[in-house]
Amino acid sequence: MTILKTRICDIFGIEYPILQGAMAWVSFAPLVAAVSNAGGLGIIGGTIFMPEQMRAEIRKVRELTDKPFGVNIISLHPMIKEILAVLIEEKIMVSTYGTGNPKKIIDVLKPGGVMSFPVVPTIAAAARAESDGADGVIVSGMEGGGHVGSMSTMALLPQARDSVKLPLIAAGGIADGRGMAAAFALGAEGIQMGTRFIVVKESPAHAHIKRKIIENRAEDTLVTGNITGLPVRCLKNCMSEEFARLESTGKSKMEMALFGSGKMQLAFVQGDAENGSIMAGQICGLIKDEPSCAELISRMAREFEAAAKELKRIAEV
Ligand SMILES: Cc1cc2nc3c(=O)[nH]c(=O)nc-3n(C[C@H](O)[C@H](O)[C@H](O)COP(=O)(O)O)c2cc1C
Repeated sequence: MTILKTRICDIFGIEYPILQGAMAWVSFAPLVAAVSNAGGLGIIGGTIFMPEQMRAEIRKVRELTDKPFGVNIISLHPMIKEILAVLIEEKIMVSTYGTGNPKKIIDVLKPGGVMSFPVVPTIAAAARAESDGADGVIVSGMEGGGHVGSMSTMALLPQARDSVKLPLIAAGGIADGRGMAAAFALGAEGIQMGTRFIVVKESPAHAHIKRKIIENRAEDTLVTGNITGLPVRCLKNCMSEEFARLESTGKSKMEMALFGSGKMQLAFVQGDAENGSIMAGQICGLIKDEPSCAELISRMAREFEAAAKELKRIAEV
């Protein structure tokens, strides 16, 4: 069996430096626990929960695994104070979050014993997270699914590596062991995958959505939501193409937010692959099967080893 050991494994107490990126409406307790049981780190997609729902989801994960896991939050949540209190009371190991001011969160979580790993789309934000006292940083490239910035993982990673000493995790555009090897070559010590983990046996995503991801090519994603200030990469379908069309006609931020409201749930829970919003990244073209989390992670470890051997062979020639 291939063993991958990095600083991230020691920090989180996990076997493989592979994080399941938080996904609202997808990374509920069964997926989170399955990833953690397979030796990676599952992360609850907690942005959609009110405080007591968050507590219940955390407890559900604990019924399914005794392994470490994390919780994703959003600092713009109307009950963020109460959400942070739940994380501390429930002795959560690590929290990830993508928008808002990380310092406000770190200042509460750190004394409460919860690590902070902000998800950042720029080198400046990585440096700021370090000076704010984050425990690590997840650098997220624009090829990924969900909310995105404008820099690619390939360009972000080495520059972030040179800018911060913090443990560095790469997200965006990784779905196999080759991608993981590339990320490590560029300075990452762990990887986070979202899109790949939508299509695993333990993922609760609706079968229509899993099938749509398997059928799509890398060119079939687009970024919408620039007008809302939170651009999102998703699959092309009736919903995203109509969203893009309405944006181009100058609709207001509020009108666009209303149009987008409830559309992720419509896709991932109800299975409407045309009228729902299917957040997914450009790596979707690589996803052709639905393995279990354990199968996926051990396959990635083998692919990583093969890629590393090939790099070594090239270096020796
Ligand atoms: C369906 C979906 C929902 C997501 N929801 C969240 C979220 O709630 N919070 C968050 O920080 N990131 C979210 N993300 C981003 C992922 O956690 C992860 O960083 C990203 O998917 C990595 O890129 P990849 O899709 O190329 O693997 C989401 C991504 C997807 C595909």
